[in-house]
Amino acid sequence: MAAIQKALAGDQFIIVLGGEKGGPGKSCLAQNLAVCLKLAGADILLIDADPQATSYDWAHERDALGKLVSIPHEKAHGDISATIKDKAKRYQHIIIDCGGADSQALRSAMTMATHLLLPFRPKRRDLRTLEKVEALVRLAASSNPDLIIRTIITQCPTLPSQVQRIVDAKDASASFELQPLQAVTFTRNVYDDAEEDGSSVMEHGTDPKAVEEIQAIAIELLEAK
Ligand SMILES: Nc1ncnc2c1ncn2[C@@H]1O[C@H](COP(=O)(O)OP(=O)(O)OP(=O)(O)O)[C@@H](O)[C@H]1O
Ligand SMILES: [Mg+2]
Repeated sequence: MAAIQKALAGDQFIIVLGGEKGGPGKSCLAQNLAVCLKLAGADILLIDADPQATSYDWAHERDALGKLVSIPHEKAHGDISATIKDKAKRYQHIIIDCGGADSQALRSAMTMATHLLLPFRPKRRDLRTLEKVEALVRLAASSNPDLIIRTIITQCPTLPSQVQRIVDAKDASASFELQPLQAVTFTRNVYDDAEEDGSSVMEHGTDPKAVEEIQAIAIELLEAK
């Protein structure tokens, strides 16, 4: 936690989760990172820019349960740059879940963000979208040259014999000049179980390795230059 607090201090982070593929874990990461930063004391807003509203509903459910720390949350659609500008005056940090398509929300969010995190599973049908994602991201980089862009390999197989898949997925990302985080997520039931309860891997408390994963992702992303 101290490392996360140190990385957060004095800066404003606007972290966008996006991509071209459904299901690699954008909402899962948005939610777990939001809780991770909140538990580190951050003043944070979660914006759900995906019409599916997965993260908005998750945060709403947390409040309805009344047992977990509240994550301020809002929905936004279309060109969300004005919303981000406005919310950035009221909150220290913002996490934006942009859904799995090239949308106006994603394009506009990328122009305002400090960090763009793009999850990919180590599977061909995810990695095939790297080319399209690269083109989209270059566009963002031209209007927001300070944007820090990282991919993350998610839902990795836990079998040691499958480790090459993770290495290959990172190499595939790097071959499109999209730098992968060293940190990954492995396939763990707790991600799904926690989401089901409106909670996070930190609060679910059944899998310390998942907690370590999320903290490692947070630190590496916040410290990325
Ligand atoms: N590391 C993981 N291990 C196991 N399950 C995971 C992991 N990451 C995500 N999941 C599960 O995979 C499913 C899809 O994840 P999630 O909804 O976060 O993806 P998404 O990228 O937001 O999808 P969409 O494009 O539909 O918005 C969820 O049920 C989630 O709990
Ligand atoms: Mg989602």
